[in-house]
Amino acid sequence: MGTEQQKVAVVTGASSGIGAATARRLAAEGFSVVLTARRTERIEALAKEIDGRAYTLDVTDRAAVDAFAASLERVDVLVNNAGGAIGSESVEAGDPADWLAMYQVNVLGVLNVTQALLPTLRASGDGTVLILSSTAALAAYEGGGGYVAAKHAAHTIAATLRLELVGEPIRVIEIAPGMVKSEGFAVTRFRGDEAKAAAVYSGVSHPLSSEDIADTVAWAVTRPSHVNIDLLVVRPRAQASNYKIHRD
Ligand SMILES: NC(=O)c1ccc[n+]([C@@H]2O[C@H](COP(=O)([O-])OP(=O)(O)OC[C@H]3O[C@@H](n4cnc5c(N)ncnc54)[C@H](OP(=O)(O)O)[C@@H]3O)[C@@H](O)[C@H]2O)c1
Repeated sequence: MGTEQQKVAVVTGASSGIGAATARRLAAEGFSVVLTARRTERIEALAKEIDGRAYTLDVTDRAAVDAFAASLERVDVLVNNAGGAIGSESVEAGDPADWLAMYQVNVLGVLNVTQALLPTLRASGDGTVLILSSTAALAAYEGGGGYVAAKHAAHTIAATLRLELVGEPIRVIEIAPGMVKSEGFAVTRFRGDEAKAAAVYSGVSHPLSSEDIADTVAWAVTRPSHVNIDLLVVRPRAQASNYKIHRD
């Protein structure tokens, strides 16, 4: 675990994909990292590897989030990464239960953790709240349905919070990735159907990796304190928009 001088970064959804890569990268940048997710074994293993701390947490459980916040003495950086898509149905065919689940994790999850950690971030005298949204936060696509709606809401949380906190020593950064071939994203979207998940990246020679996004997170949070990267849109070269993807 960290020293007194070491800055502390909390990463939600650190058990997989972008969150795990971000935890690793922030540890390499010198942060003491607190890894949270629901899958305890995974975060414990990674915490051991990077000399961090694991805390099992479902970001949709507000009481659990509050207890987590109470366990932290210092937080300098919060990376709101936990999230994902469920289903690819049209708006007409979408299941409200999927929409609710996506809203809970991508929107209320961000709200819960951000609200609970803001006092500690403020007390650090130089805090950073980062929200991992998506290019789905900025433009719609067919079948994006509830995910597009939820990520638009996450984008709006970032924009609103930045307005509300201006003048305080807290930055609000949004990173909006395009196509990232992460461990779990497409598998979750297609409810465990590996073939459908693989088809998302078919013919795309270089989708982004989780490490590419971790790299942008690390860059954004290590800028001098007065520099706020409001919004960073990151796509692979082969993707010009949510729709226009070059496939070999
Ligand atoms: N991959 C992409 O193309 C892409 C593009 C743009 C944005 N994003 C966003 O990037 C973020 C990370 O996604 P990823 O691609 O790395 O997918 P991933 O590999 O499926 O990782 C998702 C992470 O979120 C955690 N999570 C899900 N529900 C949670 C909950 N209720 N409480 C706590 N943690 C929860 C998961 O951990 P547990 O299951 O252990 O709880 C897991 O660690 C998401 O917000 C996603 O929407 C992804």
